[in-house]
Amino acid sequence: MLTEHLTEAERQYYYMEQCRRWLEEQRSKLGRPLTASVVTFGCQMNARDSEKLRGILENIGYEMIDSEKADFVIYNTCTVRENANLRVYGRLGQMKQIKKKNSSMLIALCGCMMQEPEVVEKLKKSYRHVDLIFGTHNIFKFAELIYRRITENKMVIDIWKDTEQIVEDLPNDRKYSFKTGVNIMFGCNNFCSYCIVPYVRGRERSRQPEDIIREIADAVADGVVEVMLLGQNVNSYGKNLETPISFAELLRRICRIPGLLRVRFMTSHPKDLSDELIRVMAEEPKICRHLHLPLQSGSTEILKKMNRRYTKEDYLLLVDKLRAACPDISLTTDIIVGFPGETEEDFLETMDVVRRVGYDSAYTFIYSKRTGTPAAVMENQVPEAVVKDRFNRLLEEVQNIAAKVCSRHEGTVQDVLVEEINRQDEHLVTGRLSNNTVVHFAGDASMIGKIVPVRLTCCKNFYYMGEAVNLTKK
Ligand code: 5AD
Ligand code: SF4
Repeated sequence: MLTEHLTEAERQYYYMEQCRRWLEEQRSKLGRPLTASVVTFGCQMNARDSEKLRGILENIGYEMIDSEKADFVIYNTCTVRENANLRVYGRLGQMKQIKKKNSSMLIALCGCMMQEPEVVEKLKKSYRHVDLIFGTHNIFKFAELIYRRITENKMVIDIWKDTEQIVEDLPNDRKYSFKTGVNIMFGCNNFCSYCIVPYVRGRERSRQPEDIIREIADAVADGVVEVMLLGQNVNSYGKNLETPISFAELLRRICRIPGLLRVRFMTSHPKDLSDELIRVMAEEPKICRHLHLPLQSGSTEILKKMNRRYTKEDYLLLVDKLRAACPDISLTTDIIVGFPGETEEDFLETMDVVRRVGYDSAYTFIYSKRTGTPAAVMENQVPEAVVKDRFNRLLEEVQNIAAKVCSRHEGTVQDVLVEEINRQDEHLVTGRLSNNTVVHFAGDASMIGKIVPVRLTCCKNFYYMGEAVNLTKK
């Protein structure tokens, strides 16, 4: 085959070229450009994968739009909780009619949900209008898979169980010109007992630090000022590299990139958060004053059953250390309610941690049974009514606390990175503080991507209204 002696990235560019020719033919047949749309479910990792998919689609010549009426619709799916799966089936059902009206339409499905064999079986049987199915390990092959679909003219399915491969240097299309996510590692080795991620995203593998730094430096040269470093457990970054390097050291190196103004990262597992990392966070002004630190449960007993490998006390101690080193840090978290065997006492332990930590915000989830995970077969699954009641109590507490905590900067002047024109009022712009809180203030499109000092005049529970203070900093 022609492409045998090439690197993987070169092979994929070859297929992009082939697809481009096909698309040009389609374009002249139809007498209009062809459009594509990537619909993303789930986490930041998926959002980043979607940018890569968009990059490939643009390279092929598709015009990117934000509508499921596009000629090519790609669903990048999530399977962390069951309702995410149900939503995808619902959307696919509706697409059947839409596809009937457009003979050049293609539908692709990818992402975590596709790594589950039962899902693929169901799609093969009941959703024959899907053209292309691939998983989380081979998104770099997107162009090749499109090419197969258009040449073979039948449903193409390519799911890998796992991979060691990390393919560098493929195109990507950033949603924002001034900020981007950067994968530093893939997969997860933690096997929290409720979580399906290790089964669908595979074993942990870190990118080489040089590759990460080069990607960020290139993005900065292209106008990016803020990066979000992405991994399921960033604190174990680099441990398995041939030349091991700690996450803290990687952060230090990244902060030295000239022109880069803000560095964020997620997600941090409390069990792996080192003193070295806390020190770097305290010393390095480019690192944003925000840490997402999933608690999951405040009960040591439940944490043990979740295989989280820390206790309630370990977690609280960690929070104390973080606050001592970075007093103004905002903490956010994830909490699961209704894990099997959770008693009222266990739940009250969670409420206790929530009160003691004072989170700026917390994502609260009702436990969802994921087939194949150890928790799915645990005894004492909690009755739905009990879970709902606990969930509502937790949500109320979280919101009351967040409203108080968020307002602590009222009246001060803080740097805001402006992200967009306000969606409700075009005279306003919307941006974020270093601690990730949203701020709206009077401004215009010229401010987008710039850091502007803003007086935070009024806190409205979770966000601020503000006023720009004279000077615009770059
Ligand atoms: N049920 C409910 N929530 C879950 N999460 C992960 N797995 C499950 C599950 N089975 C939550 C965790 C994780 C977040 C991304 O999703 O809180 O941190
Ligand atoms: Fe899932 Fe735990 Fe890995 Fe997070 S650390 S992805 S919750 S297994």
